[in-house]
Amino acid sequence: MPLASRPGPNFREGTSRKNFGESSGCLTNAPTAHPCDRMASASSAPSSSPSAPTVDHTVVPIDLGDRSYDILIGEGLLKAESFAGLPRSAKALIVTNTTVGPLYTARLREAIAPLHQQVLDIELPDGEQFKDWPALNQVFTKLLEEAADRKTVLYALGGGVIGDMTGFAAACYMRGVPFVQVPTTLLAQVDSSVGGKTAINHPAGKNMIGAFYQPLRVVCDLATLDTLPQRELLAGLAEVIKYGPIADADFLGWLEANLDKLLARDRAALLHAVKRSCEIKAWVVGQDEKEAGLRAILNYGHTFGHAIEAGLGYGAWLHGEAVGCGMVMAADLSARLGLIDEATSRRIQALIARAGLPVKGPDLGAERYLELMQVDKKAEGGEIRFVVIGPLGQAGMRPAPEALVREVIAAHVR
Ligand SMILES: NC(=O)c1ccc[n+]([C@@H]2O[C@H](COP(=O)([O-])OP(=O)(O)OC[C@H]3O[C@@H](n4cnc5c(N)ncnc54)[C@H](O)[C@@H]3O)[C@@H](O)[C@H]2O)c1
Ligand SMILES: [Zn+2]
Repeated sequence: MPLASRPGPNFREGTSRKNFGESSGCLTNAPTAHPCDRMASASSAPSSSPSAPTVDHTVVPIDLGDRSYDILIGEGLLKAESFAGLPRSAKALIVTNTTVGPLYTARLREAIAPLHQQVLDIELPDGEQFKDWPALNQVFTKLLEEAADRKTVLYALGGGVIGDMTGFAAACYMRGVPFVQVPTTLLAQVDSSVGGKTAINHPAGKNMIGAFYQPLRVVCDLATLDTLPQRELLAGLAEVIKYGPIADADFLGWLEANLDKLLARDRAALLHAVKRSCEIKAWVVGQDEKEAGLRAILNYGHTFGHAIEAGLGYGAWLHGEAVGCGMVMAADLSARLGLIDEATSRRIQALIARAGLPVKGPDLGAERYLELMQVDKKAEGGEIRFVVIGPLGQAGMRPAPEALVREVIAAHVR
């Protein structure tokens, strides 16, 4: 894949997407007061807290032919209007976990009640270690015990773990039932709920058992982020930051200017960050739904990041933390390959550090890093392929000389 010639979503000649709706003119720049963000007055916007200024919602369409759908982003979206137009059915199942369920199931149940005669729910154990066959089977058992049929709609209420598992359950049950994503972590709102990758883990590999299966809608209620632990918010920010270097240099600038607001969970800033992230992801997935090429740029920082996660044992670092550090390493690799200058690499590192994410990896030893990266999904035919930046705002995949990779590892471990 050529590095510099491929247009990104910030491509200034416009976009080939025919269905970008109101967003079509807004792919070039990401100014702070974005004209596409419909900021509502306090009186007309739904309010969850009397003191906090509220934001209305915005819609990002994802264009996948007959599998196209909308991503709704806003505050207080766990209400009936957000789910209007979705299929009616006798039964629906909310799949959530023991942490998120007590917080939001009741609100979601009320919101979707007009669509279904019976709304069931299941609370799975919380944690990446439960993104596995036994948990998935609990969902199937519930569906079968309740005589769920082909029209039963599944609602994924939670972070990426719940979203990935529910999507895979929906893809499999009776060879496919409809499902809706209601992501409640920043990471899930900007990444995992969009694009139709669903999976569970296998002891021999993360996300190795799965399917491409698109939801009917994604409803991102920014208010649910209020209860998210700060560490999880920061991990989600890593995936937000990712979109700047790979697709939109202006967005990187916007993030630098607005990071403090994001860290303080300013709703308007979050709205823009989630919206722009979803626009970029929708643009990439719209070009390459099944990752034949372009979609792989979304894995920027992930080759190094996955090595850190696996090397330390899953759960020691959050995925976003490992990706944050991995992006620093991949930026340095891009600089050592002459694709960006060192100042750009340092700029990316500075933002990741400011976001409270680690910029130094664990010292697993270069051999171990190389071994782990070799088994990562992106190693093809034994050759490790890295997502590299160049120029800023565009990315591509390529192998790198082992000596350079060793230099990068040596420079970024403690
Ligand atoms: N499908 C994709 O394209 C894709 C992309 C990126 C990541 N993923 C997957 O996503 C998963 C990570 O997702 P994640 O970071 O959301 O982790 P997660 O789902 O484990 O959620 C993180 C933690 O936050 C809790 N939580 C969720 N929402 C909350 C809320 N509103 N308030 C309080 N607590 C809340 C969860 O219970 C959990 O303890 C991984 O399994 C990863 O493989 C998938
Ligand atoms: Zn990721």
